Amino acid sequence: MTIKTVLRMGDARLLKVAEPVGRYDSAELHSLLDDMRDTMQALNGAGLAAPQIDVGLRVVIFGVALNARYPDAETVPETVLINPVITVLDDKTEAGWEGCLSVPGLRGMVSRPCNIRYQGFDEYGALIDRTVSGFHARVVQHECDHLDGILYPMRMGDMSQFGYTQELFPGQEMQEE
Ligand code: NI
Repeated sequence: MTIKTVLRMGDARLLKVAEPVGRYDSAELHSLLDDMRDTMQALNGAGLAAPQIDVGLRVVIFGVALNARYPDAETVPETVLINPVITVLDDKTEAGWEGCLSVPGLRGMVSRPCNIRYQGFDEYGALIDRTVSGFHARVVQHECDHLDGILYPMRMGDMSQFGYTQELFPGQEMQEE
């Protein structure tokens, strides 16, 4: 089990554009995913992109399980997504709170497309092709932004809606992506 250090905002490595994965089902790719899963679990994250642990490849993982304390929160299936392509399906956007393991302890309101299709591959090279909306769509867009060097504060319009999680949501546990 290897828990990697997650790079934090301000580190120039987070701003680089990641390279496509050329080969699936390789020992290197499985090892990277083991490290990503271990790191995400240790930090109780909802998602993680390879560049956040200083690996410049187009690989993200995400997943949000049912939480007994917040039974109405939307869930997202555990997913490995490699070389993703996102297609925005219509003009509808929605504002929602986001957090990020690279911006720990803070949350900000980000407006994003609501309805998307995403395509890519799992670690074995099997095609993933899903049409999603709402929170699932937000998580995918947040993670894939990391592959292009974009952190969620760079997408914010209203900086008055940016602050410390403990002040914005006292007493609530919140996951970061
Ligand atoms: Ni993030």
